[in-house]
Amino acid sequence: MKGLVSTPSAIGLPIGLLAELTHRCPLACPYCSNPVALETRTTELATEDWKRVFSEAAKLGILQVHLSGGEPAARGDLVDLVRHCASVGLYTNLITSGIGVTEKLVHELAEAGLDHIQLSIQDSEAESADKIAGYKGSFAKKQIVAGWIRAAEFPLTINAVMHRANIARSAAMVELAIALGAARVEIAHTQYYGWALPNRAALMPSRAETEIAVAEVEALRQRHRGKIVIDLVIPDYHATYPKACMGGWAKQFINVTPSGKVLPCHASETIPSLEFWTIKEHSLSDIWHSSPAFNAYRGTEWMAEPCRSCDRREIDFGGCRCQAFAILGDASATDPACHRSPHHALMTDIAEADSVGTIGDYVYRRFPARTAS
Ligand code: SF4
Ligand code: FES
Repeated sequence: MKGLVSTPSAIGLPIGLLAELTHRCPLACPYCSNPVALETRTTELATEDWKRVFSEAAKLGILQVHLSGGEPAARGDLVDLVRHCASVGLYTNLITSGIGVTEKLVHELAEAGLDHIQLSIQDSEAESADKIAGYKGSFAKKQIVAGWIRAAEFPLTINAVMHRANIARSAAMVELAIALGAARVEIAHTQYYGWALPNRAALMPSRAETEIAVAEVEALRQRHRGKIVIDLVIPDYHATYPKACMGGWAKQFINVTPSGKVLPCHASETIPSLEFWTIKEHSLSDIWHSSPAFNAYRGTEWMAEPCRSCDRREIDFGGCRCQAFAILGDASATDPACHRSPHHALMTDIAEADSVGTIGDYVYRRFPARTAS
């Protein structure tokens, strides 16, 4: 169906800002969404720079700030930054591994006005969870941190990234989240960017495993309705339609890296043709409206067929630009996760071939990169 295409001139307001405060992290998850070339501590923005970013974000109309990393608790100024966000009226969500978080820090964050905490858990079984995280004792520590979070009366979301090593325990992850007092659990299948792409053959579940997990989680959704919110992110490689990645390119979110580069999505640096502006040289408002990277795939005018004339182009915005580039080497192509893409079979072939790799043969997120022992 042909119709009008929307242009970058119809720019709305962003609703959320993801602040990657640091790429430092004690964990080494092989599916980490951070870029393979991690930014070092010496390049990180100073406290005052971040405060300026948050003030500008509030002025721009942003409502929510997600304080992420790496591990945001690795920053000694975390409490100060939360207090500043609260003072300019931003809703603050801390996305943490829990490692490096103390009971004292949880109390200080509550006092500073933090609104919500998302805690990652790698598996419902300790041995597997520690192996995936590349950190002995992480599973036990996270249970303790979850207790402190709930004792401080924070609303808690459990983030669970699913892949071949833990997909059979998707239902157990939901039960664990309930036991930990979470109000919400995100059962999110691995997205293959950042560190997950070189680890794809060690992480990819089979279609059959995926279908069982999705059915189990759907059943739990019905059973626990009203008790816990269960969000399910289905793996693209086994999908029929792509997800509306980032809610549409440069439509809702802004991502700021530890050194102050401003990205339309956390993985967009993998697209080499894009030019990113930094908050050291431009205001957040300038970047949102005028940065070449933000305008590259805004709206629908950039689309080629089959997206351009597709009735779903304002629903999924052609899927994920980073995935189109990763699989096809062309960021303006239809996401091959879509069954209407002429390259969809390539995606399903990759999934089938990768899903028979060896579980746990990971390249961990560390420098120098190492494999599991
Ligand atoms: Fe979405 Fe493009 Fe597929 Fe249509 S052809 S469903 S717009 S990805
Ligand atoms: Fe970058 Fe989807 S991860 S657009």
